Amino acid sequence: MEIDRRVFIASLGGTTAVSLLGDEAKADALEEYMSARLNEAVTAQSAPVAPQFPSAAELEAQIETRPTRRGVGNLFTARSGNVKRLDKLPSNPRLVDFFTMRFNNTSNHCLQSATKALRGGMSEEVVLACLLHDVVQEIIKVDHGWWGAQLFEPYISEKVAFAIRYHQALRFYADPANGYEYPDLYRRVFGHDYRPEPYIEATYQMVRKHKWYGEARMVTVNDLYAFDANAQVSLEPFVDIIGRHFKQPKEGLGYDNSPVAHMWRTIERPDAPL
Ligand SMILES: [Fe+2]
Ligand SMILES: [Fe+2]
Repeated sequence: MEIDRRVFIASLGGTTAVSLLGDEAKADALEEYMSARLNEAVTAQSAPVAPQFPSAAELEAQIETRPTRRGVGNLFTARSGNVKRLDKLPSNPRLVDFFTMRFNNTSNHCLQSATKALRGGMSEEVVLACLLHDVVQEIIKVDHGWWGAQLFEPYISEKVAFAIRYHQALRFYADPANGYEYPDLYRRVFGHDYRPEPYIEATYQMVRKHKWYGEARMVTVNDLYAFDANAQVSLEPFVDIIGRHFKQPKEGLGYDNSPVAHMWRTIERPDAPL
């Protein structure tokens, strides 16, 4: 242990006071001083400072301090500085084109989540749900489970759409038996005292009893810890799963006259003024 000589002497009352002490008294004082510092260090290590989370009211008070609302999609705002120019998509754009050229803020997290699901031996439908679960946040964040399921619904199975839609509600409810604890991230984002809206609670109660609860729950399980800044991920391991489970329209996403085509065009062209 390092001893700051000046602090030690000051703790004894200064150099004059120390000069009045005998050798044994000085040794005793030093030992006592070192024990006290050691105890402080051990206490500091064993009792980590509890993270501070804002309250829901504090977060609400921040609304008028920002130029954008919290639910705005990533493509429409920059976290710092200005937004970037987007590359032009090929004609007949495919899902993989959107992954590489438009899902710039969400693809890393979704790829980490899908990678975790793949390594954990999840079904291909769960892996696909994890891969797609948050990418709609590029156009809108609020109610992203519902928006996300709608964006993909014409091209995926009902079960995968179910898992995407309802991961949003399930993430507020712990299920330790299946490996899901309420995350600190939500205490930070929603406030430590946040209570989900009644429609979220009602949705949770419905999904809890549904035959596809497990699929939706596994999206939340593989969602946690999928925020590693150093993780190396790639779309490559998922290309075959996309091929088997995602019905790519031959006209390209946005041009197939499906009920959600406009959503894909919005992701393609977020700079259009109207
Ligand atoms: Fe999500
Ligand atoms: Fe997520």
